[in-house]
Amino acid sequence: MNRVIAITNQKGGVGKTTTAINLGAALAVSDAKVLIIDADPQGNSTSGLGIQKHPGLATIYDVLVDGKQIDHAICHTSMEGLDLLPADKNLIGVNLQLVNVDDRESILRNHLKRVLDRYDFVLIDCPPALDLLTLNALMAADSVLVPIQCEFFALEGVSELMDTIERIRESFGHPLRIEGILLTMFDDRTNLARQVAADLREFFGADVFKTVIPRNIRLAEAPSHGKSILAYDPGSRGSESYIQLAKEVLTNEQARSTQSAGS
Ligand SMILES: Nc1ncnc2c1ncn2[C@@H]1O[C@H](COP(=O)(O)OP(=O)(O)O)[C@@H](O)[C@H]1O
Ligand SMILES: [Mg+2]
Repeated sequence: MNRVIAITNQKGGVGKTTTAINLGAALAVSDAKVLIIDADPQGNSTSGLGIQKHPGLATIYDVLVDGKQIDHAICHTSMEGLDLLPADKNLIGVNLQLVNVDDRESILRNHLKRVLDRYDFVLIDCPPALDLLTLNALMAADSVLVPIQCEFFALEGVSELMDTIERIRESFGHPLRIEGILLTMFDDRTNLARQVAADLREFFGADVFKTVIPRNIRLAEAPSHGKSILAYDPGSRGSESYIQLAKEVLTNEQARSTQSAGS
C-alpha cells in the first residue's frame, strides 16, 4: 500500500503546511514510512522540519527543471521514518520554465514513481495557487486533502478547486479522490466557528473528516523550532488532534482496501 495525498487549497494561511508536517509526523509515529514533498516556493515545510535552506541544498526545483534524480534530492528529517523533498524560493520560476515542456503536468508524477515503493504515504504540500505546481501535485496524487479554516469566506475558492479536480479526472482520465475536507483552526468558543463548521458539514457531508484541528498556539510555535508538534509539545491539543487525524486516515485507508479486496 502506498498513498499519495495532495494537501491543497489555493487560499493561503488555511493550514496546508501545518497539516503536511504534523499529519506526516503522526503517520510516521504510527510506523508508516512517510515522504513530505514541499511544492511551495515559500518552503515552509522545509524550514518547519528543521532543514536549512543553503544554496547547495538539492530541492524539488532541481528535480522538476534539471531532471535531477529524485532520490538525490530527498533528505531525512530528525524524525525516524519521515523524509522530505525540500523546496526553496528557486521554485517561483518553475511555472514559466516548464510552460513549453511536453507532458508538463506529469513531471512530478513521473519522478515520484521511482521512489514510491519506499513509502506508505507521500504528502504533497501545495502552494496557495491553482498553478502548474499544484497541477503536478494533483496529477501525482491518489487523493486530495483540503484544509479549510473555520471563518468567514471559508468556501471562497473551493468551487474552483473542485472544478480543477473534475477537469483532471475528465481531461487526464486520472481518478483523483477526495481524501477529506479538514476543518482547521477551530475555536469552539466562537459561534461563528461553530456555524461555519456546521455549514461545511452540511455542504460536504461525509467528505468532512470527523477530526477537527483546534486553534492551538503550540501548533503555530513548533515550526520556528524546526519541529513537528509531536516533537515540540506531544501533550498539546494540537498534537492530539493530528494523531487523531492520522488514525482516521489509516482507518479510512483500511476500509477502502478491504472494500476493493472484496469487490
Ligand atoms: N490549528 C492551528 N492553530 C494555531 N495556529 C495555526 C494552526 N494551523 C496553522 N496555524 C498557523 O497559521 C498560519 C498559516 O498556517 P499554514 O499551515 O502555514 O497555512 P498554509 O500552508 O495553508 O498557508 C501559520 O502561522 C501557522 O503556524
Ligand atoms: Mg503553506
